[in-house]
Amino acid sequence: MNKKQIIKDFKDHVSSGKAATYKKYRMEFVMGEREGAYMTDVEGKIKLINCHCNGGVFNLGHRNPEIIETLKKATDKFDIGNHHLISSQRAKLGKKLASLMPGDLDYTVFGVGGGEAVDLAIKLAKAYTGRKNIISIKGGYHGHTGLALATGDEQYREPFGDNLPGFMQIPFNDIDALKKYVDEDTAAFIMETIPATLGIEIPSKEYMQQLREHCTKTGTLLIIDEVQTGLGRTGKLWAFEHFEIQPDIVVIGKGLSGGIYPMTATVFRTEYEQFFHDHPFIHVSTFGGSELGAEVALKVLEISSDPAFLDHVNEVAAYLAKGYDSLKKKHSKYIAAFRQLGLMTGIEFYKDKHGLLFTKAAYESGMFSLYSNNNMKVCQLLPPLIITKEQVDEIINKIDKAVSKLKYYSMAFSVKEFIDKLF
Ligand SMILES: Cc1ncc(COP(=O)(O)O)c(C=O)c1O
Repeated sequence: MNKKQIIKDFKDHVSSGKAATYKKYRMEFVMGEREGAYMTDVEGKIKLINCHCNGGVFNLGHRNPEIIETLKKATDKFDIGNHHLISSQRAKLGKKLASLMPGDLDYTVFGVGGGEAVDLAIKLAKAYTGRKNIISIKGGYHGHTGLALATGDEQYREPFGDNLPGFMQIPFNDIDALKKYVDEDTAAFIMETIPATLGIEIPSKEYMQQLREHCTKTGTLLIIDEVQTGLGRTGKLWAFEHFEIQPDIVVIGKGLSGGIYPMTATVFRTEYEQFFHDHPFIHVSTFGGSELGAEVALKVLEISSDPAFLDHVNEVAAYLAKGYDSLKKKHSKYIAAFRQLGLMTGIEFYKDKHGLLFTKAAYESGMFSLYSNNNMKVCQLLPPLIITKEQVDEIINKIDKAVSKLKYYSMAFSVKEFIDKLF
């Protein structure tokens, strides 16, 4: 395959802006072969350990053989199905999700994208409560579709005009702000259990418990976005379990696809189902809950909820934490903290934009990881959950190498100079 031609076609017919950005950053990686924790450039010259994983899409690694086998088998019997009809596969997947959720989180609407699933959660909260206001976290991220976009930061909304009425953001982990703004007019409060784009900020247990209590007190529905944190990422099947709270609505995406077939889920409490009972065709998604995708998602859930799988995540996470300790000692002037829960980490640097520079340095060291767009001091690290201890050693070595590069960059140039000159 001719890489130059691919880049030209992409630039001319898909996204000239993305092509220009990667050229400027000298990161013109075109995904070729991919397997397990690794992806190789189409020319076979660059191999990266994938610590981005599209935010959890590749929790089970690239082209996981069990998932591929499941999809292949499913094509013997199924296709997308018809979203208007009763479906054996959607019924099976809905039942499985209910069995893996606490309390009466028993109903699911399926979708194909996380934004779509968040939109549905917000629609349901508004319809059920009859209230207008939706409160989210400053710096949080729930997608780029209509209502999800309205919960996010201004930088992503501003070119499209005024925000929708009733949407408001409050600071993260701030109990006073929560009590001040979430009230009897609030339909829903939405947050990622661990806001990734904000810089993998881990909330306090006190905050999460007060949040739950205050939502109950005010009749506000608590929507927890587990698009990145769900499916074992933090060492528990659902990250909200760490905080001993039960949400009213849970949004699941990314990893539910097994990296193979898009599938998202909005899971909600039984009492809200009355709304869909009365309006069964008010929200439809042609491809949402496709029967092939349902087979894949069932397999993902079977693998991810296995206690041995979660034990593995916790074991490698503890091993990774030991590596972080040594890196923190060695690079104490650069690394402020490793914000880690399970296999989700934000590497926090002291200086602004060092998260961005680290992304570049890591790429040059053979590792793909991505800075947090709403806090560029931080680089996110989300390796596949199937990594081995040997691969953890490799990741620690690569972080070490990348921070050394970062030191060189910041000694030789100011961050601004570096970004202007080298990128
Ligand atoms: C926490 C979170 N919620 C929602 C979304 C939106 O998902 P999608 O891109 O599938 O619409 C994302 C995507 O990155 C996300 O990280």
